[in-house]
Amino acid sequence: MKKIIYIINGPNLNLLGEREVGIYGDITIHDIERECKKLCLSLNFKLIFLQSNSEAQIIEWIHQAINTESDIIINAAAYTHTSIAILDALKVFKGRVVEVHLSNIKNREDFRKFSYISLRADKVFMGKGLEGYLSAIKYLI
Ligand code: DQA
Repeated sequence: MKKIIYIINGPNLNLLGEREVGIYGDITIHDIERECKKLCLSLNFKLIFLQSNSEAQIIEWIHQAINTESDIIINAAAYTHTSIAILDALKVFKGRVVEVHLSNIKNREDFRKFSYISLRADKVFMGKGLEGYLSAIKYLI
């Protein structure tokens, strides 16, 4: 059976390309999905690429992943800094968790410097845009 990678993206990442282009660049979520799919295909991994603006939906997807042979790459976006509920869901998940951010959250406003996701993540990539997602996939392989 092919190993599964979930890539879960949080709120406002559907607006990449028009959202704070000075920080996130002009890449869209579709560009990220396409490049991640290409890489996973070449490595013979099954990719489930998801985005939601809803915290509840993100938690449901993590629950879905719990009973599968999978790893999770997550950019929880603003929920990174607020969501104990997403952290708790990830704590139930037995696979590896890689946290990704397009921007470097350590070099931005103080309220972005703390990440609940980092309390569970096995590895973090930040500040490298699309490259961070691709590095996360390579890390898992
Ligand atoms: C982000 C950083 C978060 O602070 C922010 O709320 C986002 C995107 C990033 O990818 O750099 O929405 O996760």
